[in-house]
Amino acid sequence: MKHAICYVSNANKDLSQQQIKSLLDFCQESNEQLSIKGILLYSEGNFFQILEGEKEVVLPVFHKIQKDSRHFGLIQIMGQDIAEGAFDGYKADILEDSKHSFQVPKKYIDVLHGMSPEAKRPMERMLENFIATR
Ligand SMILES: Cc1cc2nc3c(=O)[nH]c(=O)nc-3n(C[C@H](O)[C@H](O)[C@H](O)COP(=O)(O)O)c2cc1C
Repeated sequence: MKHAICYVSNANKDLSQQQIKSLLDFCQESNEQLSIKGILLYSEGNFFQILEGEKEVVLPVFHKIQKDSRHFGLIQIMGQDIAEGAFDGYKADILEDSKHSFQVPKKYIDVLHGMSPEAKRPMERMLENFIATR
């Protein structure tokens, strides 16, 4: 059974840009090894993550993430069994500064490619809100 989790959180204030970069690189590699798909974005002190994969793989990773002291104030937006995955791979990245543009960068829309239109629109809106409120 496949499972999808989506959450937002606040990065620990002590994290340097380099530590954030290392964390993102680690997650990218670890998730590829675990066949977890989705995205992890960092933007001005916030994380936005989607994890999608086999339930018995995704849930233990999420439990580790919940206990990780590198972030706090985690709010889970979604956690549900899914018939099939919507993502082709894993993408962990830092959103470039674009304070006055609430447009979702094309590369993230591309990651959403493959989702049904009903599922895609709320996900895009979530991303727009994430970018708009940072
Ligand atoms: C914001 C955030 C997102 C994370 N995302 C992942 C992830 O997608 N996959 C992953 O393996 N670890 C992720 N981690 C790291 C885990 O919390 C944990 O440190 C890592 O899985 C190593 O665990 P281990 O030392 O028990 O093997 C994330 C940590 C943070 C703070």
